[in-house]
Amino acid sequence: MDAPFQRLVGRFVPASLPPSGSFDGQTVLIAGASTGIGLAAAVHFATLGASVIITSRVASRVEAAKRHIEEAVGPSYKGDISCLELDLESYESCTSFMAKLKTSLPDPAALDVAILNGGMVNSHWEQSEAGWERTIQINTIGTTLLSLLLLGWMREARSHRKSPAHIVFVSSRDHLYNDIDPLVRWSQEKDGILRQVSSKDNWDGGFWETQPNYNVSKLLLMYMIEGVSELARGPDGEPLVIVNSVCPGMVKTDIGRHIATRSWVHAIGVWLTLFVIAKTADSGSRICVTAALKPKENHGEFVNYWMTPDMYRGQAESVIGSDKARALQKQVWKEVIDELKSNVPGLQASLDKMCQPAMDTLGKGSI
Ligand SMILES: NC(=O)c1ccc[n+]([C@@H]2O[C@H](COP(=O)([O-])OP(=O)(O)OC[C@H]3O[C@@H](n4cnc5c(N)ncnc54)[C@H](OP(=O)(O)O)[C@@H]3O)[C@@H](O)[C@H]2O)c1
Repeated sequence: MDAPFQRLVGRFVPASLPPSGSFDGQTVLIAGASTGIGLAAAVHFATLGASVIITSRVASRVEAAKRHIEEAVGPSYKGDISCLELDLESYESCTSFMAKLKTSLPDPAALDVAILNGGMVNSHWEQSEAGWERTIQINTIGTTLLSLLLLGWMREARSHRKSPAHIVFVSSRDHLYNDIDPLVRWSQEKDGILRQVSSKDNWDGGFWETQPNYNVSKLLLMYMIEGVSELARGPDGEPLVIVNSVCPGMVKTDIGRHIATRSWVHAIGVWLTLFVIAKTADSGSRICVTAALKPKENHGEFVNYWMTPDMYRGQAESVIGSDKARALQKQVWKEVIDELKSNVPGLQASLDKMCQPAMDTLGKGSI
């Protein structure tokens, strides 16, 4: 089935049952939980018994989310809801968030699941403080940084846990809808891929191009998730932390707000699209629970509502599986890791600790 038809069906028919399984006594971090999919996922995890740690860039928003979850789960809820501030656009915010997270939990073994959900669609070209286009900064670079900070910490805890903890990235099937030829070309130029994909000259601001860098930000994220999944393995190749990415399908949230500000045509377009084909956040966020219950055999998989792993591999051949894509993955990994190593104190040491001899797929010397 094609994506538009699947989305239309998904609007009316929840693709999975309400989540089951128990998270009693577990702690789940949902990064980016003030609204939308993250907030709905937090309600699911809390309903299933988990204590939740939720984040927003803005203290008042995360407090409002906490009240929403409390109302949704009711007075019989036995868990805790903790609020932290996190801005994936800022390296400093990511590291100070990690410091606070570490002090708020008794030990790394206490964190069972981390859902990395924060993300955005930008319809206007904007530059982050670090100099990258904002969608790339948040969806790709910041999300990778957060995952590496968490992974370094969560890996250490494996020997104190019965089973591996989970890191779940909220990605998107939109990563499939990319032409990688420009990326391949840029990878051979001096500036590299990140600089070119962030350049205003390469930003397609055409009237009908509503989310110029969103799809590519998620593809670059998928390349980074591949590397993070390898780093999550122990010396015997078994995952010390189970890593998955998910696509929630098209979900009615605030994600289109930047598009809607472009013109009244865009505002109506966003409203109509969400009205006709988007499912509720409750329904879309179920995939986060599904992924957090995956066994180690599914480590590294892209979990989604419609495609089996084989179907996904077929559809992802050109952007993930082909020789061109393999070379691209290595280059993107190197560029993002170099950027983070030069700007985030202590990251090099943490990566050195995680680095496994069997990590050939990441490319020798890339870490
Ligand atoms: N909606 C869809 O159809 C759809 C489809 C596929 C994938 N996704 C993915 O699902 C995730 C959630 O999207 P959504 O649809 O729920 O969007 P949303 O309603 O706009 O929510 C986005 C969440 O991310 C947080 N966030 C935004 N910028 C952030 C930043 N710089 N640092 C930290 N957190 C940030 C927001 O928190 P604050 O603004 O309070 O900080 C908010 O909690 C995104 O990664 C998106 O790409 C969505």
